[in-house]
Amino acid sequence: MTATDFAVRTTSAAETAAAGRVLADLVRPGDVALLSGDLGAGKTQLAKGLAEGLGVVEPVTSPTFNILLVHEGRIPLYHFDLYRLERAEELEDLDYYATLEADGVSAVEWGDRFPESLPQDGIDVVLHTVDDEERLIEVSSLGPRGRELARAWREACTTAGLNTQGGQE
Ligand SMILES: Nc1ncnc2c1ncn2[C@@H]1O[C@H](COP(=O)(O)OP(=O)(O)O)[C@@H](O)[C@H]1O
Ligand SMILES: [Mg+2]
Repeated sequence: MTATDFAVRTTSAAETAAAGRVLADLVRPGDVALLSGDLGAGKTQLAKGLAEGLGVVEPVTSPTFNILLVHEGRIPLYHFDLYRLERAEELEDLDYYATLEADGVSAVEWGDRFPESLPQDGIDVVLHTVDDEERLIEVSSLGPRGRELARAWREACTTAGLNTQGGQE
């Protein structure tokens, strides 16, 4: 696993969603954000913010039972949840890798479930529950595009008034 590029500390679900919302202005088709962390850490909250920022109007819920929910936005949002998958081979059946490279941005809950099957590039966002309302969100990059995205996202979070840590050069 790569080192953390930066972190954001949020103190409400709304702040975590705000972090997702500002990411929407930075992503382009083919970008991937893995969302990792325990149940209730805030993966879906972050995805909701991203969806809102992309102009998705329909409700965004956890795709736990569907594995993939597609939302029409300014660019399509492919919202995966790998929680219920048992084997990495099932990713092939889902056309997972082709979808990640398609015309949309992918947000993948439990995206670190199969460490041997991570996408080649993008960002890995790990949400840690600190207490009821506080989350530490650590962002790592998986490749050059991920590094670029992480750098821009840190700046956008800081501009949005969020509590960012690290990542300055
Ligand atoms: N700082 C925070 N960030 C995100 N969610 C928070 C925060 N504080 C409290 N919460 C609550 O934690 C829960 C997170 O749920 P959810 O986003 O569905 O988690 P996950 O998808 O990781 O299982 C929600 O009920 C949300 O209101
Ligand atoms: Mg979820």
